[in-house]
Amino acid sequence: MTTILDGKKLRDKKIAFLEEKLLELKEQLGLVVIQVGEDEASNVYVKQKEKLAKKLGYYFIHKKFPKETTTEELINYIDYLNSLDNIDGIIVQMPLPDHIDSSMVQNAINSYKDVDGLTYINHGKLLHGEESLYPCTPKGIIDILDEYEIPIEGANAVIIGRSILVGKPLSLMLTNRNATVTLLHSKSKNIEYYTKNADILIAAVGKKHFIKEDMVKNKSTIIDVGINRDNGKLYGDVDYENVYPKVNYITPVPGGVGPMTVYELMNNVYIAHNMRKKVLKK
Ligand SMILES: NC(=O)c1ccc[n+]([C@@H]2O[C@H](COP(=O)([O-])OP(=O)(O)OC[C@H]3O[C@@H](n4cnc5c(N)ncnc54)[C@H](OP(=O)(O)O)[C@@H]3O)[C@@H](O)[C@H]2O)c1
Repeated sequence: MTTILDGKKLRDKKIAFLEEKLLELKEQLGLVVIQVGEDEASNVYVKQKEKLAKKLGYYFIHKKFPKETTTEELINYIDYLNSLDNIDGIIVQMPLPDHIDSSMVQNAINSYKDVDGLTYINHGKLLHGEESLYPCTPKGIIDILDEYEIPIEGANAVIIGRSILVGKPLSLMLTNRNATVTLLHSKSKNIEYYTKNADILIAAVGKKHFIKEDMVKNKSTIIDVGINRDNGKLYGDVDYENVYPKVNYITPVPGGVGPMTVYELMNNVYIAHNMRKKVLKK
């Protein structure tokens, strides 16, 4: 029998738990999302973040800059946010226009406020297996695996897609949890060889139905990160209907990894707040 890994249900459970912790905290947490220009997908993602942040009672600012804003102007604004005690988390919504140095802007964020977990410092801490703010989508994937008690230690975990947002950090998180990790990308040869041997297969490619039923191992776990729009409908990277009967666990799209990503961001704001307070006390 196949179990559907229900990201929405898990998100709701985790949010209820976070709400309890926030009540105990008795302080309002602050989150700022910086957006440059008018990217349509970014508008949708920011709205999702705003909705959940407000539900949790966070002080939320959506700071919009015109598309001609310079790298320096953005860094100046981030410096200002870094100095504010009531701001716990800062996000720069990607993509930024081409003339902006995205890396410089991202790394201007104080690592204790980097709730996307994308600064060099937080990547370095992840590499060393140290406590830090970890990227939200991979963290959501680990939480799904843990919730359903899917063994990570010793598992053959195969990730397709090596983005800095998903594949690379996830490969480290799974390695830190003692999985044997294979990270595949567009130059990898004979992809099926690896996917057919995967106890846990994570697809983060961005291609509708890239993973077919003859590419997966019987009774394995399938995590579908892909979000592909086709004729107004959402599809994952996995051919869900045909893969489903073959495997033990599978995430749906929508309703799998996506909802967990937004939750992890809100939880990172809470973690960021506590980490910063701890550091300031020292
Ligand atoms: N659910 C969520 O919360 C969430 C969060 C983030 C992203 N996503 C979705 O996840 C998907 C991936 O996004 P991303 O930002 O992680 O990655 P990305 O930057 O879009 O890159 C895609 C990755 O897939 C690899 N790839 C492309 N074609 C391939 C092929 N034929 N065989 C093997 N590998 C191939 C690329 O290899 P190269 O490196 O060699 O180019 C690259 O590493 C997208 O659909 C995105 O919308 C969902």
